Amino acid sequence: MWDTLWTNVHLATFQEGKGPYGIIRDGALAVRKRKIVWRGRARDLPQGAEQKTRDIRDGKGGWVLPGFIDCHTHLIFAGDRADEFEWRLEGKSYKEIATQGGGIISTVLKTRLASEAELLEASMPRLKAFMREGVSTIEIKSGYGLDTECELKMLRVARALAQQTGVRVVTTFLGAHAVPSEYAGRSSEYIDLVCGEILPAAAEQGLVDAVDGFCETLAFSPPEIARVFDRAKELGLPVKLHADQLSDGGGGALAARYGALSADHLEYLSAEGVSALAGAGSVAVLLPGAFYFLKEKRVPPIAALRRAGVPMAVASDCNPGSSPFTSLLLMLNMACTFFGLTPDEALAGVTRHAARALGLAKQKGTLEIGKDADLNLWRIDHPRQLCYWGMGLTPEWASAM
Ligand code: NIG
Ligand code: FE
Repeated sequence: MWDTLWTNVHLATFQEGKGPYGIIRDGALAVRKRKIVWRGRARDLPQGAEQKTRDIRDGKGGWVLPGFIDCHTHLIFAGDRADEFEWRLEGKSYKEIATQGGGIISTVLKTRLASEAELLEASMPRLKAFMREGVSTIEIKSGYGLDTECELKMLRVARALAQQTGVRVVTTFLGAHAVPSEYAGRSSEYIDLVCGEILPAAAEQGLVDAVDGFCETLAFSPPEIARVFDRAKELGLPVKLHADQLSDGGGGALAARYGALSADHLEYLSAEGVSALAGAGSVAVLLPGAFYFLKEKRVPPIAALRRAGVPMAVASDCNPGSSPFTSLLLMLNMACTFFGLTPDEALAGVTRHAARALGLAKQKGTLEIGKDADLNLWRIDHPRQLCYWGMGLTPEWASAM
């Protein structure tokens, strides 16, 4: 018995090696126990398929795509930084603001003061905005707490968001996001706290799916990040890195050395960094929202990544400082216009490659037999339109909603 059979649909499977979008026109897709059990051309359906299905759904010529995956967000935070936006337009740089007590630290102060309920209430509308555009899996980082109590609070809110919405939330511990004011000038001691107390406590409570860091002159050095990664490895947790965003700090190569799931941002990634990522099989996560909002001039080395066969994901980086956006469709458009990705590459970046960046390649990201029946039905003529419109589209039907 099948639970559901979708007929009269086109499929954009994003299966590797099946051409742009992995298209199957005039397709059908069957679901049993929330897994895909059959998919292909409708005319190849096994005999009696309809009789052995409980619920037959007519897609009326729409397109079925895998649920979208936003593999890099800082969705949970209190307040905003519209003031800093204004200052930057008056000529101050992101770095200057950060070194003068603004930046990440100003969001930390607000997030520490917020209760768990307040943080949940502030974050829920942002998650709902992503959901309206077909996002069914989202990564959410801590990193605005920077002490044990508040880092754990953020991660609990992430778990609560999952519970209340049914969205698959992958949590990432980002204790090494910035040096908190009480440790100013003592970053190494702060890393001691991260490795000795905050990370183990969060991991012990089952709140951590992966570990991230911000490797940058205004944040942490490669040796400091390496200490956090060593601790993550001891705890059996995968790692990823904010790498080479504002300068070439060798972050890409460092991430690769630890077999990172992904290296993210990468505007200043070097040629050595590209080969290191290729060798390690890490995903390059592109964040065009931050590139745009910080008015960066330097584009990540897309052509070199493509040549080296590094899978490229696209994510929102949703955060109050560098990417205050809650639209993954807008990111698809920006990935094409700013970074020169093809619509097929951009969409693979929020499906197949994003799943891999979260260690979910076996369950999510493509329409293949055995994977989760995590589906969106879109009323479009072609998947490329999802990149073209930028935002405002919503799936007609979504298994996650
Ligand atoms: O991904 N680069 C570090 N972290 C964020 C910015 C966070 C913030 O400014 O609050 C980013 O761009
Ligand atoms: Fe980020």
